Amino acid sequence: MERGYILALDQGTTSSRAILFDRNSRIAGMVQKELRQYFPQPGWVEQDAEEIWQSQLEVARAVMRQTGVSAENLAAIGITNQRETTVIWEKRTGKPISKAIVWQCRRTAPLVAGLKEQGLDGMIRAKTGLLLDAYFSGTKIQWLLDHVAGARAKAERGDLLFGTIDSWLIWNLTGGRLHATDYSNASRTLLFNIHTLSWDPELLSVFNIPPSLLPEVRPSGGSFGETLPELLGGAVPLAGAAGDQQAALFGQACFRPGMAKNTYGTGCFMLMNTGAKAVASEKGLVTTIAWGLDKRVEYALEGSVFVAGAALQWLRDGLGILESAAESESRAAQVEDSGGVYFVPAFVGLGAPYWDMEARGAILGLTRGTGRAQIIRAALESLAFQTRDVLEAMEGDASLKLRALRVDGGASANNFLMQFQADILGTRVERPAITETTALGAAYLAGLAVGFWSGTKELEKNWLLQQSFQPRMPEMVRNRLYEGWQEAVGRVLSAKP
Ligand code: G3P
Repeated sequence: MERGYILALDQGTTSSRAILFDRNSRIAGMVQKELRQYFPQPGWVEQDAEEIWQSQLEVARAVMRQTGVSAENLAAIGITNQRETTVIWEKRTGKPISKAIVWQCRRTAPLVAGLKEQGLDGMIRAKTGLLLDAYFSGTKIQWLLDHVAGARAKAERGDLLFGTIDSWLIWNLTGGRLHATDYSNASRTLLFNIHTLSWDPELLSVFNIPPSLLPEVRPSGGSFGETLPELLGGAVPLAGAAGDQQAALFGQACFRPGMAKNTYGTGCFMLMNTGAKAVASEKGLVTTIAWGLDKRVEYALEGSVFVAGAALQWLRDGLGILESAAESESRAAQVEDSGGVYFVPAFVGLGAPYWDMEARGAILGLTRGTGRAQIIRAALESLAFQTRDVLEAMEGDASLKLRALRVDGGASANNFLMQFQADILGTRVERPAITETTALGAAYLAGLAVGFWSGTKELEKNWLLQQSFQPRMPEMVRNRLYEGWQEAVGRVLSAKP
């Protein structure tokens, strides 16, 4: 029986997907299921961890059924996931102690403010490469231990386990046999020292987290056990795991220092490979582990933008002025410009490069002439403006000018947005043939680990350009539009400069 496929499980913020890749990196099948989001208070975001696991299992089974691919045809499974989202569960029963706190959730902003007041930012930044922000897992774990009845006592007895979504899936897929994560996910917790590659006792004490809660950290490409046979009709090796943005960098074949990608998902995340060097940012980016292969890790600089596709989702579900995200392309093209409207989607504060947990969203510049098309267009344009904010910071930190930006994720299919992006950056934008690069990266990590692919050289050859977008906007217009954006952002920041 030929093991001709790798199954990638891509557990994202808005959906769970399962994608089958063949040896030529082609998609042989894909099934996706949307995930319910809970917003119990302003700025709070939760998900049901059981639903995350069940939906992931369901789509994995469905894609195998639809394609006729059985467990014996799978060389390995690679896992990739929304990062930072925090689950705590009972070791004995596997039951989560509460809803998962999603990366976007701002409930721990007061805890973060307290840590800042103690002057801990510098130490935390030096060890973890991250900024003190509610985005990362550290304060989310602390919050759960302090707010779920009995949780802290149980944690101290060693009865609870913490995991980001990769760990949660690995635990369930292995039937509770393995509690593990990979370097890239560990590097998003605020608890992991990215230089010594270990959980840091000083950080654990700052966040008041018992070490027994933590998963074992393994290389991103390597063994994570195997699936319980009854789940997928046979045991399949779990051979790769990485946070979704790092996986996308790998899937875009950005293997060399200086190569960068931008993923337009729920949020928007630009990562640049910095190789064996952990480059400290001075411009509001974070330093993160890109992946660990064997004992070697590589690093990346990251600009994390919290709301991108989620702004379109809000226009669809919140305002009801859009049928689907895809419709935004034709709507935006109905008008010549946004008519001076700016949409700052700071629904959950602002991430890079502003890091303002208290900022909230705004639509500015409304006139009697403003209609649905201008608002939709302004929402799309905000993705491009936020990307420019981050690219400028990245080029400053890395002291280089990017030759081209590789893009992927749902909204990269939007030609209007990609052209506007190239125009606002003044840089070429390159869209590959496969834009499911997050899942592809997870498949690559797993496939390399089991010898399904020979090495990164072979994968580089599989990267094919589908379309490139050249900047064509006059510089004066580009600058005027961007200045308008900066002014709009200035209006929503909590501390006025
Ligand atoms: O850090 C959060 C990120 O991993 C979420 O990615 O694709 O679900 O927007 P996405």
